[in-house]
Amino acid sequence: MIASLAAAGAVSCGALSVAALKARDRLALSRAKHPSLTGHARIARLVAARVPYYEFAGEQFFASDDAPPDVALRRRKGFSDLAQHYAERFPRTRELTGQARTGLSDLQFTSAYRVPFQYTRFVGRHLGVGTFLQSSSGVTVTDLDGNVFYDLAGSYGVNLLGYDFYKDCMQRGAAEVHPLGPVLGAYHPVVAYNVSRLREISGLDEISFHMSGTEAVMQAVRLARYHTGRSHVVRFAGAYHGWWDDVQPGIGNPVPARNTYTLTDMSERTLRVLRKRRDIACVLVNPLQALHPNAAAPSDSSLVDSSRSAGFDRDAYTRWLHALRTVCTERGIPLIFDDVFMGFRLAPGGSAEFFGVRPDLVTYGKTVGGGFPVGVLCGKADLMRRYRAEHPADICLARGTFNAHPYVMAAMAQFLQRLETPEVRRLYDNLTETWDARAQWLNRALANENLPVRVANLSTVWTVCYTQPSRYNWMLQYYLRAEGLALSWVGTGRLIFSLNYTEDDFAAVAERFLAAVRAMQRDGWWWTDASIATVPIKRRILREMLELRYPMAARLLARNGTRVSEPKSRLA
Ligand SMILES: Cc1ncc(COP(=O)(O)O)c(C=O)c1O
Repeated sequence: MIASLAAAGAVSCGALSVAALKARDRLALSRAKHPSLTGHARIARLVAARVPYYEFAGEQFFASDDAPPDVALRRRKGFSDLAQHYAERFPRTRELTGQARTGLSDLQFTSAYRVPFQYTRFVGRHLGVGTFLQSSSGVTVTDLDGNVFYDLAGSYGVNLLGYDFYKDCMQRGAAEVHPLGPVLGAYHPVVAYNVSRLREISGLDEISFHMSGTEAVMQAVRLARYHTGRSHVVRFAGAYHGWWDDVQPGIGNPVPARNTYTLTDMSERTLRVLRKRRDIACVLVNPLQALHPNAAAPSDSSLVDSSRSAGFDRDAYTRWLHALRTVCTERGIPLIFDDVFMGFRLAPGGSAEFFGVRPDLVTYGKTVGGGFPVGVLCGKADLMRRYRAEHPADICLARGTFNAHPYVMAAMAQFLQRLETPEVRRLYDNLTETWDARAQWLNRALANENLPVRVANLSTVWTVCYTQPSRYNWMLQYYLRAEGLALSWVGTGRLIFSLNYTEDDFAAVAERFLAAVRAMQRDGWWWTDASIATVPIKRRILREMLELRYPMAARLLARNGTRVSEPKSRLA
């Protein structure tokens, strides 16, 4: 009897200590999450599902921050001048965009999310942006009305070396593989060349080809899970790795990503979790996050105030990558660099060369396709193997009808060959210094004129920040377009330059940029008074939303001093 009680006591003590250990690990995991919504996917989705629609239209549009009538009038005049300019300059481009929108879901989405939703309808009605182009040349693109824009959209990062470069890669590549045509399954000899070049560039043993960056990342993670036998992928708060479920927890993905840990970038707490947990299959790093650690890709649709901040600290990020490398090696966790965006942009050997840290697997995409769609995975032989010699039925599948398509492979071969040429190598000379100097020059010019705008950059990838509280910063994208600068649908969140921008090209862009900022300031969008500050703007937006869902709570907030304009029109 006594013996069985003692045994029961021992069992419950054991169970308690297991529970305590589990609770400790759980707590460590929670502490390694970034405190923002970016670090809490589930809460972010819950919050997003409760944000009510409302809009500012008419007079409210110009004074949603309680600007006085004279300022609202200046804004109205500036807005209507812009609207007239758009109508006169972009008629054909806008007309086709309007026609195509009905049947083109992507276009409907991007049109809806160019600016914060409260302003979308009014802006869309008057400042509709055309999405069609007829040609590209040098660092410019031309729309259907013959307007020539400096291209700052960069084709989502594909355009690294200039559009003419890719046209040539595609044309010559197509001529080379024409005799074979679209034969799939068997390879054209250019594939063997690409494999050997990519092995040299990555310093890794094996290569697989995919149709997109997303697929390359999927395969990297799948292989890491297969070889480690562990379930969870670690990604860092805010990092983009494509739109596959496991790497996109939170807003945008209707199902929870149950096998993903989203941890804080550049944090000792994250290292602690990596040292302790036994369910981590891999760590995914997108080096672009070095520009804005723990924040999602900046887009003007979320630019509700001036809190967007960014800045690249090369030493700190390099130290972080070294620390990650060390802990991953100690714990046998494959370290994956997702270089789909930054690969070849910082250095010909990718982020690994730039930061001096070797991953176990690396993904490339975008520019490496020489103008065609592609995803590439390079890895150590033991991680790339898709079968086990000792258990032949236990395989790790990866397929894709169009993988290693001859036309894509041929354009890629052109890209990889030219990467070696002196002309292209010269483009990388002093690359970081050149673009840092350009950013600093523009920032000095902005500061000299007391303009409330600054840029931050990671080499040729730039983002625009705002130094003074305002609800209207997103208007800048429309002034920039009017000055002949083409931005992608995320607006001033991301400007992407190609390496072939000369000093003269850059000077022209800087001049137009300054002209746009001056015009926006003249039109009163940066009016502010002492009651407008970043925190009150966010609190005020919260109150606008509460007013629609929970009027009582909104009144309480109001008593705490947040002024708010009249209730907004609400859509049924
Ligand atoms: C770092 C990174 N990984 C993956 C992807 C997904 O690539 P794709 O759009 O070709 O699927 C992207 C796309 O922007 C990316 O930037």
